[in-house]
Amino acid sequence: MDMTGQEEYPAKIGIIICSTRTPRVCPQITQFVLDTIQSTKHQDTTIPTPDIIDLAEWNLPLFNESSIPSQIKDPSQYDHDHTRAWSAEITRYHAFIFVVPQYNWGYPAVIKNAIDYLYHEWSGKPAFVVSYGGHGGGKCNRQLREVFRGVRMEVIERNVELAFPGRGVLERAAKGEDIGLANGSGSGGKLGFWEDERRGIVDAYRELLQVLSGRV
Ligand SMILES: Cc1cc2nc3c(=O)[nH]c(=O)nc-3n(C[C@H](O)[C@H](O)[C@H](O)COP(=O)(O)O)c2cc1C
Repeated sequence: MDMTGQEEYPAKIGIIICSTRTPRVCPQITQFVLDTIQSTKHQDTTIPTPDIIDLAEWNLPLFNESSIPSQIKDPSQYDHDHTRAWSAEITRYHAFIFVVPQYNWGYPAVIKNAIDYLYHEWSGKPAFVVSYGGHGGGKCNRQLREVFRGVRMEVIERNVELAFPGRGVLERAAKGEDIGLANGSGSGGKLGFWEDERRGIVDAYRELLQVLSGRV
């Protein structure tokens, strides 16, 4: 039960920060996605708040397991402690949101590496992508959804592409500077440049919860 006496939604959702650069804008954009989801709570207080999974904190080495993860039957068969820890983390969640920048028309290597470590831990779980870039990162978004199919994730068809509104914002993002996404604090937040995209984030999240309903 939550403080209002309503049943809490039992599903656990992970939101993955898929840039590990220093500096980086990804945490700001992840917070914007979280704030957008939170803003729907006045309509439905049972909507779960995703937990942040920051790949920079995980700092996984380049894939170094001796077996193919799809053939692993039990996490004890992994060679390395870091793989067992990553496996336990991903097992905790029922679904995922990936917040990811487009790098050179694709996704950053760090997220492919993090996915490749595991297989059964991802399989069957719904996920959607929030990509960003000069034109919204559509190429990265499509390529990552293809990889999801490879590990048998359930791909939410709605995807979200956030396009930086101009060169100035792209340059601030690249330097990890504040691009003004915090609620009401600037051009990207309340009534700002991604106001229309908030609807898409909420719709994708609702679709993800819909897929989960009845399962969890
Ligand atoms: C290696 C690299 C490649 C990039 N390639 C693209 C690209 O293909 N398309 C695009 O719109 N922006 C591209 N950018 C600009 C990024 O959108 C921008 O730097 C953004 O801040 C990256 O996200 P991050 O700060 O969270 O890492 C690229 C940036 C980097 C560092």
